[in-house]
Amino acid sequence: MHTILPIAHQVALNDKNTFGVVANAAAYLKVTDIALLQAVRLDPLWSAMPRLVLGGGSNILLTRDFAGLVLHMQNGGIEVVGEDATAVHVRAAAGESWHGLVLWTLAQGYAGLENLSLIPGSVGAAPIQNIGAYGVEVRELINEVRMFDFSTGEMTTLDNVACEFAYRDSVFKHRLRDQAVIVDVTFSLPKAWLANTRYADVAQELAARAITQPSARQISDAVIAIRSRKLPDPAVIGNAGSFFKNPLVDAAQRDDLLGKFPQLVSYVQPDGRYKLAAGWLIDQCGWKGKSLGAAGVYEKQALVLVNRGGAHGADIVALAQAISADVSGRFGVALEAEPVFI
Ligand code: EPU
Repeated sequence: MHTILPIAHQVALNDKNTFGVVANAAAYLKVTDIALLQAVRLDPLWSAMPRLVLGGGSNILLTRDFAGLVLHMQNGGIEVVGEDATAVHVRAAAGESWHGLVLWTLAQGYAGLENLSLIPGSVGAAPIQNIGAYGVEVRELINEVRMFDFSTGEMTTLDNVACEFAYRDSVFKHRLRDQAVIVDVTFSLPKAWLANTRYADVAQELAARAITQPSARQISDAVIAIRSRKLPDPAVIGNAGSFFKNPLVDAAQRDDLLGKFPQLVSYVQPDGRYKLAAGWLIDQCGWKGKSLGAAGVYEKQALVLVNRGGAHGADIVALAQAISADVSGRFGVALEAEPVFI
């Protein structure tokens, strides 16, 4: 049987990626119902096309026009699916807005996601790069991820371990990259909640507000204030958050760098390695606030690259390469991009 799919042709993606870079998709389908995924898979024409699964478009860099089919996840729904002695389990559809989910949980009185307030993007994208901020990574709250498997046509559930989470990384960026379409995510929100205010920015913001025993809502408000001050609003200035990961180096390399650069910002990791603040490295190379063509480095945070207007993906790539070369030349450290390049 041939299904008529409501596929649009030659669709501009400029307003569907938070960088706002100029790019077109050859074909585009709004996935409001996951049955559409099976219909695409069973269609001889569309199943043979390259696919790009798009959520909020906040962690991709479109380097060129996409000569395939964009599957734009727009399914909705948030519900409590269970509860036990230790946690409330909340399932959210991939197409829901991430920050919308955070606010929904807080409004119900469920704590746990507050440090991850105001992160742009969709629920379905959150596990892919294991979003993290202010001392929390989403892996700590994810119970399971359901995906449609394009190779088998089956719905598959991955538990937390199967997601192979790491710093800004998961199995969805690697082995399952071309095969999985995340359909929904189930979170376990702890009943015995403890405020996480270890991150200096959060502690300072709460102190400035004279809050000593913060509620989850108050932490969320503090995080929203910090992010709004430091990071550009993608609705105003195109960007994809941190453009580079904070690089991990061993203790010997960190000690060597610290000897040469006493101001170096680094954080010890559980395995004894150190995470270096890439924003500091880039800042030291003098890139903060600078531009190369239509691509620029944000004035208040050197880790964030921005679209100064009309940039193509290639402009952002050229700037990223120039920055990486400088950081590597000065510090001997290789930077790795955080967004997925398409
Ligand atoms: N710094 C500078 N100059 C700059 C930027 C930063 O010297 O231009 C220094 C700061 O002074 C600070 C250190 O670098 O000592 C770290 O900066 P910040 O606290 O702003 O955090 P970050 O390491 O730059 C990471 C995440 C962010 C997350 C924040 C808060 C990565 C790649 N980025 O940034 O995540 O919001 O911590 O937890 O891990 C994202 O992934 O898109 C993102 C925004």
